[in-house]
Amino acid sequence: MQGVGILGAQWGDEGKGRVVDFLTEKAPVVVRYQGGNNAGHTCVIGNQKIVLHLVPSGILRPGRLCLIGNGVVVNPQVLVEEIARLKSSGFLENEDRIRLSDRAHLIMPYHQRIDVLREERRGAAKIGTTGRGIGPAYEDKARRSGLRVGDLLDPEEFKKKLAVNLEENNAYIEKVLGGKGFTLGEILEPFLDFGSKIRGLIADTSRILDQEIKKGSRILFEGAQGSMLDLDHGTYPFVTSSVTTSGGIFSGSGLGYGRLSLLMVGVTKAYTTRVGAGPFPTELFDKTGDRLVEAGGEFGATTGRRRRTGWLDLVALNYASRLNGLGGLALTKIDVLSGLDPIRLAVAYRYKGERLTEFPADLKILSECQPEYEDLPGWREDLGAVRRISDLPPAVRRYLARVEELTGIPVLILSLGAERGQTVVIRDPFEV
Ligand code: IMP
Repeated sequence: MQGVGILGAQWGDEGKGRVVDFLTEKAPVVVRYQGGNNAGHTCVIGNQKIVLHLVPSGILRPGRLCLIGNGVVVNPQVLVEEIARLKSSGFLENEDRIRLSDRAHLIMPYHQRIDVLREERRGAAKIGTTGRGIGPAYEDKARRSGLRVGDLLDPEEFKKKLAVNLEENNAYIEKVLGGKGFTLGEILEPFLDFGSKIRGLIADTSRILDQEIKKGSRILFEGAQGSMLDLDHGTYPFVTSSVTTSGGIFSGSGLGYGRLSLLMVGVTKAYTTRVGAGPFPTELFDKTGDRLVEAGGEFGATTGRRRRTGWLDLVALNYASRLNGLGGLALTKIDVLSGLDPIRLAVAYRYKGERLTEFPADLKILSECQPEYEDLPGWREDLGAVRRISDLPPAVRRYLARVEELTGIPVLILSLGAERGQTVVIRDPFEV
């Protein structure tokens, strides 16, 4: 395969960053195509822990070209700060390796304020957003009044567009949400400053991508969030505002279907986590749930929130597989299950006496579903030092084989810890 898409197969936080970081060894080009700084990809390199919110994780390897596609929403302040951090920690010599789509939309300060005020107003019914302004930025895009990265290149035009957009958003903040609006000057000056700082990065990234494809470069598409947070197919309205499933790769990077051979790899933890509100059928409220939080370090990379935890949900995973057209799985955090016995897999849901194997659209139904579990024997061994599949305890291999049987998808990659050496490749997705 010339291209590999790395997609979250759950509710985000599956450990995509470490899988991408590992695969960038084989791919000179890495593309982000949706979401914004709601994402937080944590990578541990030596004794350095790096959290990336916008720049693709590929940046951590020398020489990799990182594209931020048109489908991403960009907070330029976060980008400027992230680039500065990458430089000061020695991961980025200059900015030639980052290119930002001129068509990507900007997250403005009023988007963030709307996000926060709206969540406060929703009270108990809140979505539990990251408060980064993601939804309101995509709303302006869909309303056709958003500001794009390319607008920063023409300060006069930018000012005019900002004035119109600000007027609408200020009215909403003040009249509907009861908050305080912004003055033009408060936003204009800092944004023109960001514009001058990122000017050199702005480009037609779809074209650069096409040139790389023609050169024969391998391309890695780095998804953010997870399939169950997809705006159309996820647990709406408890979703994010972008297309997190594989279709987002095409629209969000300007890639034409069929331009390259592409394998979709779904990243899933060996259990399930979720941050924010919304139904979660296999959620655990007992000591096992607490143990998964502690052993798995289940706190959000962006907001620090404690993640909700539960057993691996194969109804959701099979749904994600169908939506994304998955050709392989990357299974992360298997090491966290060590010491648990039995290990449970949700193979179906029970709803009012009925057995469901398809993920329901209706959240009322979903919230009343009880998981039907298949139990597998656990293992006690610490897996942190395992580097080869043949060194895995038999119970782990049995677990992997059962996941493959129940999903019909081969496990290509295993992650047994946060460090670079702890990712084990069963089969290289670029060689499939
Ligand atoms: P938003 O993307 O900030 O609007 O948040 C919408 C929903 O998506 C909330 O439930 C968030 O917790 C969730 N979400 C957004 N980004 C991530 C992520 O990177 N990991 C996990 N959940 C996320």
